Amino acid sequence: MIVGLEGFDDAGVYRITDEVAIVQTVDFFTPVVDDPYWFGQIAAANAFSDIYAMGAVPKTAMNIVGFSPRLYPISLLKEILRGGIEKIAEAGASLLGGHSVDDEEMKYGLCVTGVIHPDKILRNEGAQPGDMLLLTKPLGTGILNTAIKGDMVGEESVQKLITVMATLNDKPAQAMGMVRTHAATDVTGFGLIGHCTEMIKGYIGLELFLDKLPYFEEVVELSPAGFVPGGLFRNQEYYVKRVIGEAEGFLKDILFDPQTSGGLLIALPPDDLPLFEKEAVRLGFPFWVIGRFRDKHRGKIEIVSGH
Ligand code: CO
Ligand code: CO
Repeated sequence: MIVGLEGFDDAGVYRITDEVAIVQTVDFFTPVVDDPYWFGQIAAANAFSDIYAMGAVPKTAMNIVGFSPRLYPISLLKEILRGGIEKIAEAGASLLGGHSVDDEEMKYGLCVTGVIHPDKILRNEGAQPGDMLLLTKPLGTGILNTAIKGDMVGEESVQKLITVMATLNDKPAQAMGMVRTHAATDVTGFGLIGHCTEMIKGYIGLELFLDKLPYFEEVVELSPAGFVPGGLFRNQEYYVKRVIGEAEGFLKDILFDPQTSGGLLIALPPDDLPLFEKEAVRLGFPFWVIGRFRDKHRGKIEIVSGH
């Protein structure tokens, strides 16, 4: 075993030979959107994300299903699975099987296995002082999902959100492999600050550029109106002790907002930024430089403006 439970890494890694290690993860959840096909796509994209965050390539997937045929038509389950299967194909992985249980609260997700060279594994720990921190998807999915449940979001915004959540993190992972990436993870339930905390542990500090954070523009109005998920407050309560400096209003909320199928957080030396950018343009994915690691204030994240 190369990577296990101890470091809160995104996936477990087990060495098979000197050249090959397998990377395994499992993720499933209750519907985040009304449309079953898109729910399937998002749940699958989310499950693959931990494989990409380790720098690995997904190879096989197994469906995990909680569904009650007494409560819902079977056609609904077929749509969820259709969304998942399309995403599995897009990831270049093979669906090997799965398991379902009768469950009144619908659930869907995947168990995914990927492969990686044992020397190429990217953990959430490993960022060096001077490294830049990159993020590859906008923040605010928790706030938007909450507002959607309250019927407060227009169809265009819903579709934009769904598209982002259903997007695989495969391209950023590919670009990470082209540069000297020191560490990576993905942003999910613990929010930006929570997952940054897992990167810095106690050994390094981080400056976070408040005015460089990407977010869905809808949150500017939705978060002050009170559309914030319960998990946001739990994250804030738990991680606020790691934060130096202040953010106000919606900017404070996006720091702690739990993300569904969020982007990758990538630590790399500044000299490698131009090559990463070139790869991002070639592959066609967005990214934002949102911070810089440093020796000062180890174990803390300082919120700074004016970068
Ligand atoms: Co993760
Ligand atoms: Co996960």
